[in-house]
Amino acid sequence: MLVCEIDSATYNYVVVASLKYFLLPLPTLEIVVVNDRCPHRGGPLHLGIWRHESSTIECPWHGTCWTLRTLRHRGLIVPSVRRGQTVTAIFEQIDPMAPVDLAWKEKRPMEGSDYAE
Ligand code: FES
Repeated sequence: MLVCEIDSATYNYVVVASLKYFLLPLPTLEIVVVNDRCPHRGGPLHLGIWRHESSTIECPWHGTCWTLRTLRHRGLIVPSVRRGQTVTAIFEQIDPMAPVDLAWKEKRPMEGSDYAE
């Protein structure tokens, strides 16, 4: 198990053992850590559109709208806890010595004025 602390004010993207994840800030102020690989054909979900009214991310490749519930059922949401701007993510199946790279990606799923950081 790998535990990773992420400063969400500085980083919104993390690569762990070659697997890519992004931080999705919700209007509820929760921050969800989501696998960036769309379950359909691997599209980059961090480039999708967040639809708050349905709690879905629309994939930029084929337009499938994924609910957070479905992504969680498929194991594509990483258990995490937010304290202030720090998000602690628990990558249960990852070797604790695996390399971790943090980054900032400009485009994230968002929807107009409902979007909150
Ligand atoms: S790759 Fe995401 S809907 Fe097809």
